[in-house]
Amino acid sequence: MPGVCVIGLQWGDEAKGKVVDLLTQQHQVVVRYQGGANAGHTVVADGQTYKLSLIPSGILHPGVTCVIATGVVIDPAVLLAEIEQLQQRGVEVAGRLLVSDRAHVIFPWHIEEDRIFGQRALDEGEAIGTTLRGIGPCYRDKVGRYFAIRVGDLLRSDAEERIRRVAEEKNRALRARAGDQFQELDGRRIAQQYRQYAEQLAPYVADTTEFLLSALEQQQHVLFEGAQGALLDVDHGTFPYVTSSNSSGLGVSSGSGVPGRYIQRVIGVVKAYTTRVGGGPFPTEQDNAIGEHLRRRGNEYGTVTRRPRRCGWFDAVAARYTARISGVDHLAVTLLDVLSGLPELKVCTAYRIGQRQVSSFPSHAQDLEQAEPVYETLPGWQEDISQVRQIEDLPQAARDYLDCLSRLVGRPVKLVSVGPDRCQTMFVPAASGDQLLVGGDV
Ligand code: GDP
Ligand code: IMO
Ligand code: MG
Repeated sequence: MPGVCVIGLQWGDEAKGKVVDLLTQQHQVVVRYQGGANAGHTVVADGQTYKLSLIPSGILHPGVTCVIATGVVIDPAVLLAEIEQLQQRGVEVAGRLLVSDRAHVIFPWHIEEDRIFGQRALDEGEAIGTTLRGIGPCYRDKVGRYFAIRVGDLLRSDAEERIRRVAEEKNRALRARAGDQFQELDGRRIAQQYRQYAEQLAPYVADTTEFLLSALEQQQHVLFEGAQGALLDVDHGTFPYVTSSNSSGLGVSSGSGVPGRYIQRVIGVVKAYTTRVGGGPFPTEQDNAIGEHLRRRGNEYGTVTRRPRRCGWFDAVAARYTARISGVDHLAVTLLDVLSGLPELKVCTAYRIGQRQVSSFPSHAQDLEQAEPVYETLPGWQEDISQVRQIEDLPQAARDYLDCLSRLVGRPVKLVSVGPDRCQTMFVPAASGDQLLVGGDV
């Protein structure tokens, strides 16, 4: 059962793109199965930086098939631009990319709806602060069904008529809601535009569920690339400050069409600290010189929106929760180099909420908002570790820090990243009887 998943265990941007790129060499197929162009996955290969938003991070490896599966919401303009940019840089996409005919399509009205509602404060106060990519509105239409249009619909003869009809409905609703704030959508123009998109995308469109099931039945190795992080999962994250898909390990099957029995291993990716973009509770946030150190050294600015990311200490209560719901086997700890130079490091081991001390993750955002972190403090290290290539060559304090994360999250660390480049990676040697993350067995 050769399916491996890479899941972010925090609020996104854990360097999933780098980990997927590294693991791609042992896989024949790489799959995105939820989210959309709200994701920004960075791969640094041979000194070149690639930022991927819809296309799986495996695309840089020739010979690997990349799949955008059913659970992804697709903005055709973004996808076509991404294909074009990759081809211009010499990455062959034609014949290597499959796009699900069941995936839902993002239209200009979804982006308008995101603009009108997504930045507005919720009743409780803060705005979600979405990426404005139309993600939430498209998923809402999918669940609501009446206004939903899938990739397969775009290829049918009645597509233009259907798009015009939905545009009329959306104009009516948005005008009533936003008045002057809203510029009428030209349904006819959009329909023509999407017909062109459909023609350009047609060669990539396939029944990806059938493709993936056949690949797995033939023992091909399939790598599932999560987008966002498990704390942004719409059902299990810090609701309502979440994205609109199941971004924890729980979303792999529904998004890809592949049952759990094919998933052999789940790798949870965590930064050595925590970041968050957008609104919502963040108990270990450091809105001070420490946060500034992390943002500067980690270059913590959003890949998609360039917003400064909020930065703070590692939250082991949150990561333990997301590792458990995601069925994580191993941890990949990234951006460890960013912690160099801090005199001491803190890791959150529990929360104090009112009079209570809890070590489980609260289900309500307001409880999390009030949570005071209880910290374990560890010594820091001063050395630059970005050139270290063996775990045993790391400063003792860095090794102790990794041991602490592993103990508190309850999973072994198998991969450590100390810089963006492929080569800035260490694999933890397997203990006897233990399986290596990277090796012939994945
Ligand atoms: P993703 O969305 O999970 O794929 O992560 P992003 O690409 O949005 O953000 C991760 C950022 O950290 C990117 O700019 C990477 O190039 C960079 N990066 C990845 N691993 C490391 C690392 O170990 N150290 C440092 N300093 N940067 C890293
Ligand atoms: P990757 O895959 C970090 C956040 C947004 C916002 C919330 C909802 O690169 O890790 P949305 O546009 O999805 O409705 O926004 O989710 N968000 C991310 N934060 N990394 C991401 O993706 C994100 N995708 C969405 O900032 O708070
Ligand atoms: Mg990102």
